[in-house]
Amino acid sequence: MKKLSLVLMSLIAISFMITSCGGGSQPAATEQKGPNALPADVVAMMPKGEAIYKAKCIVCHQATAVGIENVFPPLANADYLLTDKVRAVAQTLNGSKIEMIVNGKKYTQEMVPQVDTKEDAVAVINYVLNNFGNKAGYVTLAEVQGVEIKPRTAPPAAK
Ligand code: HEC
Repeated sequence: MKKLSLVLMSLIAISFMITSCGGGSQPAATEQKGPNALPADVVAMMPKGEAIYKAKCIVCHQATAVGIENVFPPLANADYLLTDKVRAVAQTLNGSKIEMIVNGKKYTQEMVPQVDTKEDAVAVINYVLNNFGNKAGYVTLAEVQGVEIKPRTAPPAAK
């Protein structure tokens, strides 16, 4: 049994080595290599994430994602963001109104919900995790499956 799993492990390792050498096929232009390589589906959602960031987040978190000290927290090299990617997706979806310490500074302002779908939230968070100097991996839709989309504040009733 031990021997069999050893053989299996080395077979898997060898096949990984072969596939990571490309096996002769040309990788797509956007495909990344190396230890920080992102899966193709994550690379594919980057333009959407960028568009959302530029349309929505930039006003507060700024063009370089450094935020505004003690008002809007940074998303670039932010310890708070990098410790919990699922929480970041949930905050983007549902907003956040808590006291938080980001890179040693306190933030207490409210962020209202920014996007309506998990797809959009995942796309923009993955964009943030891989831009502004961040090289922080990615989050998947499957990982945020348990995140509840809270009901939005109801629009004023028509009279
Ligand atoms: C109107 C200003 C505003 C906009 C627009 C905004 N945010 Fe925020 N954001 C805040 C504030 C204020 C906080 C702190 C909230 C708190 O203290 O609970 C915050 C916190 C966060 C956090 C957690 C803190 C951190 O440093 O990781 C994330 C992640 C985040 N925002 C992502 C986004 C994304 C992504 C967008 C665009 C889709 C966005 N925000 C748009 C104001 C904003």
